[in-house]
Amino acid sequence: MEALVSRIKRDGTVLGDDILKVDSFLTHQVDPKLMRQIGQTFAQKFADSGITKVVTIEASGNVPAAYVAEELDVPMIFAKKAKNVTMNDELLTAEVYSFTKKITSTVQISRKFLSENDKVLIIDDFLANGQAALGLINILKEAGAQIAGVGIVIEKSFQTGRALVEETGIPVVSLARIAGFDQGQVIFAEADL
Ligand code: G4P
Ligand code: NA
Ligand code: NA
Repeated sequence: MEALVSRIKRDGTVLGDDILKVDSFLTHQVDPKLMRQIGQTFAQKFADSGITKVVTIEASGNVPAAYVAEELDVPMIFAKKAKNVTMNDELLTAEVYSFTKKITSTVQISRKFLSENDKVLIIDDFLANGQAALGLINILKEAGAQIAGVGIVIEKSFQTGRALVEETGIPVVSLARIAGFDQGQVIFAEADL
């Protein structure tokens, strides 16, 4: 997605060896017009896939996921990282290890929002080591839902996530793919859309 790649080139900053900071338009401050384009691009790709739900993990997956869901005219569900007092329904859970934060968290979705009649599009802001996506895939399999694909805004192709997701047989569709970083510059690989 050309507009996204241009924006990363203009406003993204590289931190250390493997982190891209995009907090001015995606992960902290949000550019709604760019998000709408992201929503439209995924919605076009999956228009004929019979998607019934978009699923992500809080926090920053929520933003692109909501725009995709709006375009597909289906609900969006975000897996929660902490159990709150109102979550008194039966829960589907998965353990997600974050290599970045070096912690394992339990993520959960109420079973009542998913069924074997659902066909789900998973959306996330970043794909790095794939642990978040794999956790969501486990939850969706437990629910008996079909999974149409994993849609990613920014894929770091030099990390293991894409291969791990594709090993499950689920296609990955990324709007920007980063091959690596070189002296603070982002090197892009060819994107899927
Ligand atoms: P993984 O799910 O692919 O295994 O990702 P990993 O554990 O490596 O990443 C942990 C968190 O860091 C995720 O956010 C992920 O979106 C984010 N992340 C990974 N690589 C980058 C990067 O290069 N830049 C930025 N800005 N974020 C990155 P999270 O912990 O789920 O939480 P939240 O920030 O959405 O609340
Ligand atoms: Na994040
Ligand atoms: Na995320």
